[in-house]
Amino acid sequence: MRSLKNILITGGAGFIGCNFIRTLLEKTPEFKGKIINLDVLTYAGNPASLKDVEDRFGGKRYFFERGNICTRDITEQVFKKYNIDTVVHFAAESHVDRSILGPEAFVKTNVTGTFTLLETARNCWSKDGAMRQDVLFHHISTDEVYGSLGGTGYFTETTPYDPRSPYSASKASSDHLVMAYNHTYGLPVTLSNCSNNYGPYQFPEKLIPLMILNMIEGKPLPVYGDGRNIRDWVYAEDHNRAVWTILNTGKTGEKYNIGGENEWENIQLLNTLIDIVSKKAGLDQAKVRETITYVKDRPGHDRRYAINCSKLKKELGWKQEVSFDDGLDKTVSWYLANKEWIEGIRSGEYKNWIEKNYGERRI
Ligand code: NAD
Ligand code: TYD
Repeated sequence: MRSLKNILITGGAGFIGCNFIRTLLEKTPEFKGKIINLDVLTYAGNPASLKDVEDRFGGKRYFFERGNICTRDITEQVFKKYNIDTVVHFAAESHVDRSILGPEAFVKTNVTGTFTLLETARNCWSKDGAMRQDVLFHHISTDEVYGSLGGTGYFTETTPYDPRSPYSASKASSDHLVMAYNHTYGLPVTLSNCSNNYGPYQFPEKLIPLMILNMIEGKPLPVYGDGRNIRDWVYAEDHNRAVWTILNTGKTGEKYNIGGENEWENIQLLNTLIDIVSKKAGLDQAKVRETITYVKDRPGHDRRYAINCSKLKKELGWKQEVSFDDGLDKTVSWYLANKEWIEGIRSGEYKNWIEKNYGERRI
């Protein structure tokens, strides 16, 4: 077991990171340490997602620092100020469509940002010329680094990298840097490649929350191409439990696939969502279905992702706990119950709130 005392979470104000922090502080009694959340608060970072955590643990076991992972002074200051012994690196530009429109930010944050954190860790964790081995740098990555599958087959940890979008290429690049730092400098690292996440607090540009909100607001439901692209869906909490398992018992220098073993064609998934949302929100199912709108396909749209995560299951004993039925049910209920959070995002009002509350706390 590693000590995991002072954990630096990068990108903790984003979708998966905020769920990770909440789970660790509220539902993981064996974790007794502190969490330091370093996040620059891009459009996707929203401290409102952690208000309950800030209220309960702020200044005691939870510390927020606003700052960019690409700025070495900032990352070094955070490492030293909090005596960081573990990094869980979520921070990234994460949306494929945005990477097609503007790839630069993806290279900056995902490649240079990861490089900066690795350099910081290498520097701060070296003692008398030797690399500490009681520390860990865990890198969060995606199954998209493996490219696109046809009708059969699965990504395993040994599948050659074949990224096809600026997003996946930038993540692949960061993965290679992380493994190179282990190989070259002996930096203790672990790496996980996960399939599509869903759950509460996901920014409504990704498929599931976008569709839920469009249904509620009576807007068209845009399906790219023929709607038959396939994704493997995993509930964010299951992903995060897998990460916690790897932090505790994963082998240094190893990578692990995480997935839901839950493949759906986009159009199939949308029809299921329509059933759930219509029922819960009291909408006319047939009318909602009429708003499905096939639109121009995403350039270079990967056809199918499917994960083999048997290494994680067999070696570390993790398994998915939330069924797709339950996960979708909880997710839809959350979006229906959290209008204020959604309104903040939709109106852009949350950005003013961030500037007022966090503008001067930039480290
Ligand atoms: P997200 O876009 O919701 O959140 C990203 C967070 O990183 C935001 O809070 C943002 O403010 C922060 N950030 C961005 N640039 C930063 C910078 N330069 N410095 C500091 N903070 C910065 O992303 P997410 O969906 O929560 O994804 C988290 C991680 O998981 C990413 O590394 C992503 O590649 C990976 N991942 C995501 C999925 C998925 O389905 N969402 C699947 C597999 C892997
Ligand atoms: P997305 O949530 O953007 O995740 P990723 O591209 O990383 O897999 O998209 C999931 C799937 O849904 C993908 O095949 C693209 C498709 N999609 C649509 O058909 N319409 C949409 O409006 C969006 C956002 C995605």
